[in-house]
Amino acid sequence: MNLRKIVVAIDGYSACGKSSTAKEVSKVLGYRYIDTGAMYRAVTLYFLDQHIALTNPKEVSKALEQIHISFKVNSKSKTETYLNGLSVENEIRKMRVSEMVSQVSTIKDVRVAMVEQQRRMGREKGVVMDGRDIGTVVFPHAELKLFMKADILVRAFRRQKELLDRDQMVDLDDVLENILERDRIDTTRAESPLRQAADAILIDTTHVSFDEQVDEVVRMAIAKMLQPAV
Ligand code: DC
Repeated sequence: MNLRKIVVAIDGYSACGKSSTAKEVSKVLGYRYIDTGAMYRAVTLYFLDQHIALTNPKEVSKALEQIHISFKVNSKSKTETYLNGLSVENEIRKMRVSEMVSQVSTIKDVRVAMVEQQRRMGREKGVVMDGRDIGTVVFPHAELKLFMKADILVRAFRRQKELLDRDQMVDLDDVLENILERDRIDTTRAESPLRQAADAILIDTTHVSFDEQVDEVVRMAIAKMLQPAV
């Protein structure tokens, strides 16, 4: 059977299950998984550690030239984010990064640099990419576009559990506040704000089990892969 390679673009709010779904779907399809949120997190980590002044455009663009982000699959088949050759997978999930990342991702130069890398990573297709602007800006012609949302409390519980799994104890209140603040910044920023592309399929993950969610996305992807290229 002749299956064409496609781009699966998954956008949506923080902590809706985008990354876990994207990861699993990419495994089933044998596609590469690209977590664009991790890229913005890696930039944020670099800016924090190097004390880059976010309001100084020259400093920001000089710093961006020093940043190289890549992904590698580890021995447990998990994708890890690398910043300048070092794995930062754990560090970028910490609250100090979560608290800054939305602000960093409003900076135009940061977005231009990341979008360019993301387009390069997806040029050959055969990728599942998740983020906020994949279907609207990075790959507006992606063959399959999904937009995920979920109830705010469900999202906060899920994110708290994720943090606990990484041995980080954070109050539910603080997690909730961080998610709400990120929603606010992500949806109202001037540069490529989070919004559903006109041709994206809306998925509400509040009452759907993880396996059901993955099956549904895989089914939609295979349907697209079976269609002849136009
Ligand atoms: O998916 P995440 O929660 O790890 O993303 C972290 C932040 O990065 C999110 O609050 C907004 C930003 N982001 C973005 O602006 N554009 C993307 N394509 C992905 C993430």
